[in-house]
Amino acid sequence: MDIVGQFPLFYFPDYGSAWMMGVTGTIHILFSHTSVGAAMLFAFLAHKAYKENRSDLYPYMKKYGMFLLVFSYVLGSITGPGIWYTATAASPRGISALIHNFVWVWATEWVFFIYEVIGVFALVYFMDKIDKKTHLKLTYSFALASVGTLCLIIGIISFMMWPGTDAYYATGSASDAFFGINTFPHMFLRLGFMIMMSGVIGMVISSAMKKENPALSDELTRKMGYVSILGGAITLFFFVWYMGTLPENAHAIFAYDKDAIIQSRIILTLVFSLYFVVAILRPRWIYTSVASVMVGIILVSGLWKGEKLRESMRKPYVAGQYIYSNQIISRDVEGKGIKSELPILAEKGLLQATPWIPDHLRTVTAENQLEAGELLVKMACSNCHSLEPTGKYRPMSTRVAGMDKEAIKGILYGIGAGAFSHMPTLQLPEHEVEAMAQWLAAQPY
Ligand code: HEC
Repeated sequence: MDIVGQFPLFYFPDYGSAWMMGVTGTIHILFSHTSVGAAMLFAFLAHKAYKENRSDLYPYMKKYGMFLLVFSYVLGSITGPGIWYTATAASPRGISALIHNFVWVWATEWVFFIYEVIGVFALVYFMDKIDKKTHLKLTYSFALASVGTLCLIIGIISFMMWPGTDAYYATGSASDAFFGINTFPHMFLRLGFMIMMSGVIGMVISSAMKKENPALSDELTRKMGYVSILGGAITLFFFVWYMGTLPENAHAIFAYDKDAIIQSRIILTLVFSLYFVVAILRPRWIYTSVASVMVGIILVSGLWKGEKLRESMRKPYVAGQYIYSNQIISRDVEGKGIKSELPILAEKGLLQATPWIPDHLRTVTAENQLEAGELLVKMACSNCHSLEPTGKYRPMSTRVAGMDKEAIKGILYGIGAGAFSHMPTLQLPEHEVEAMAQWLAAQPY
């Protein structure tokens, strides 16, 4: 075959498509993680309320349930399709790889999810309408379904980092893809984070109850403090384990910003530990405004940073260590009948071997060289580097600043020869390298 199976290029100026993924992903994760943590918290409270005959806990559960219903299930469900849409535009072959490996896992996850959505409505609306024991059982099954969705989705997301087993490339089987060495540490890391999130969000609600029922509000804020500390400790423990299960390329990227990342995580841990301790010792000091700001801080410093790190550490791949971020397949996967596209691209070049190239750019000439160069750079590099001089995402301008055409060609040949472990080993014919270097050198960087 002379053509590789590429999709049309989705180009997002200045910020890059990876940022779009990051923004949609972070928001969605805030909602969806909260839902799993909250489901577990719900089960814990319902258990306590039932066993200790604490009917005063039910109004709190009802409030929390209502909040959860809107926050996680309405907003979470809206942003879920948003992720599919963004991912399909930004990384069509990445998403295709996931579907081809995990279609039944995803279908199963969806069944759990439907149970969860119906469950949350039932829990809130039947709270004072059915007997307490039945309600408790419903709560347990709701929590199980919720944790089930998490476990399934984490196996899929972990595969994006790497299959974690060589067997996968030979068998192509879903279980080899699912059970990599980083799947379980990743799963427990997320579970810990969810437990912590449920506490942090729980405090928004418990602090808001201060006026109507101060004693209960204090008790619940205190409980949320304990829940959060437990979740935080689990998160930290499994984060360290998780880091130890990552592939070499991930460590290479991590090494770039290692000190800054570790420092910011330590500060974050200290700030939140202090917050949780205050919640336990002085629940009155936790105001709804403070609690809401803390949710915002977790969103920006915890989730957004964490997701960005995970995305970066995957470089140069987007999924399974066989698809590069720029959508090119870089190795054979015998078990799936997938062939590396690198040889054909080295021979024919991107302009000849990719569909969706305007006809007048198929062959590079003196007249169209700059235009062809721009398209080539967009196809090969824009997934990881903003190309505009004002670009925000790992901007090319600072990476090639002050280089002339020959120096840039040196970089491009280096990339082709695999000199940079974090960039795709993309070898292209001489005339394409020349056009790319020409365009890059002509930019006002
Ligand atoms: C899969 C993502 C990815 C792609 C695609 C990619 N790069 Fe990079 N590039 C990186 C990463 C990661 C770094 C290292 C971290 C940094 O500089 O921020 C980097 C660094 C660089 C650097 C600095 C060199 C160094 O290591 O000091 C240059 C120059 C560069 N890239 C040029 C390019 C060009 C030209 C292309 C297109 C042919 C390209 N990159 C495609 C991810 C990528």
